[in-house]
Amino acid sequence: MLKDKQRILVTGAGGQLGQELVRTLTAVFGEDRVVASDIDGTKARYFKQCPFEPLNVFATEHMETIVQHYNIKQLYHLAAILSAHGEKHPMATWQVNLDGLLQVLEMSKKMRIDRVFWPSSIAVFGKDSSLENTPQNGMRDARTVYGIAKVAGELWCQYYWERYGLDVRCLRYPGLIGHRSLPRGGTTDYAVDIYHHAVRGEPFTCYLAPDTRLPMLYMPDAIKAALQLMKAPAERIQVRTGYNIQGMSFSPAEALRSIQRFYPEFRVVYEPDQRQKIADGWPKAMDDVMAFNDWGWEPKYDLDFMTEDILTHLMGKGVRS
Ligand code: SER
Repeated sequence: MLKDKQRILVTGAGGQLGQELVRTLTAVFGEDRVVASDIDGTKARYFKQCPFEPLNVFATEHMETIVQHYNIKQLYHLAAILSAHGEKHPMATWQVNLDGLLQVLEMSKKMRIDRVFWPSSIAVFGKDSSLENTPQNGMRDARTVYGIAKVAGELWCQYYWERYGLDVRCLRYPGLIGHRSLPRGGTTDYAVDIYHHAVRGEPFTCYLAPDTRLPMLYMPDAIKAALQLMKAPAERIQVRTGYNIQGMSFSPAEALRSIQRFYPEFRVVYEPDQRQKIADGWPKAMDDVMAFNDWGWEPKYDLDFMTEDILTHLMGKGVRS
C-alpha cells in the first residue's frame, strides 16, 4: 500500500474534462499524487504521467481497494453520460449518472474521503426556469434524463453533507470548450467542433440554430474553478447543491464571427436537429455571483480571448479523441 502520501482519484478521467483535469492536478500536486481511472481501460494511453486504474464505480470492492491502496483523500467523480447521448439511452444514463454518483458517495462516506468534487450542469434548469440570467436558486426544471439526474444528484450531495458531513462540492458547469480533448454526446459539443473545422479549412454544419445562446466556459477556467472550489475552506461553501458558474455566453453565429477574425473564409451551415430542443430549454446565461462571493470565482477568458487561444493551439496540432 502507498500510505506515504495522500492522493487524489479522478473517475471518468478519459473524458473531455478528466483528461485536462488530470493534467492540471499532476502539474499542481505532483505526478505521484494523482490516480486517473476510467471504465475504459484503453484510456490508460492518455496518462503516462500518473498511475491509471481501470475502474467501474459499481465494482464497489474494487473501488475501495484502489482508495485504500493509494491512500485516496480527495475524489473527482466525473464518470457520466452527456445530455444528447443520454436522451437515446434514458435508463442507462440514469444508472450511470445517478446510481453511479450514489455508489461514489456511499463509498466516500465509508472510506472517509476528505473531499469529493462532482460536476453538476446548467441542465438542472429548463424551459420554465428563468433563462436570461439564471439565478443561483432559480427553479430547477430539468427536461432531459441527464438534467433530472443532475437535479437529484445535487440534492443527494447536499444530503450527504448535511446528514453525514461528507464534504461534497459541486459546480453547475455550462458547455466546456477545450482544444486538447473532445466531448462526446453533449448538446454544447458544437462549440468545440467548430474550431477544429475552422483550422482544417472545412465548412461546419451546426446542429443548433445561429441565434442559440448558451453559457460556456473555457477549459482552463473550468479546471481553475474546480480546484478553487476544492481548496476553499468548508465554511465558505454555502451552496451544497451546485454553484452556478460561466465564463461567457454566446451563440453559434457569434462564435463564427469570432473565428472569422482569423479565418475570414470560414463558413457555417445550420441544420438544427433534436439537440435544438434541449438547448432551447437551457439558460442563455448564468448568474454566478454566489460563486464569486463565496470562494472568489472569476473567469479569465471571454469569447474572443478563448478563440485566439484555441486557434493558436490547434494550428499545426492534432487532437486526442
Ligand atoms: N455540456 C453538457 C452537455 O451538453 C451540459 O452540461 O450535455
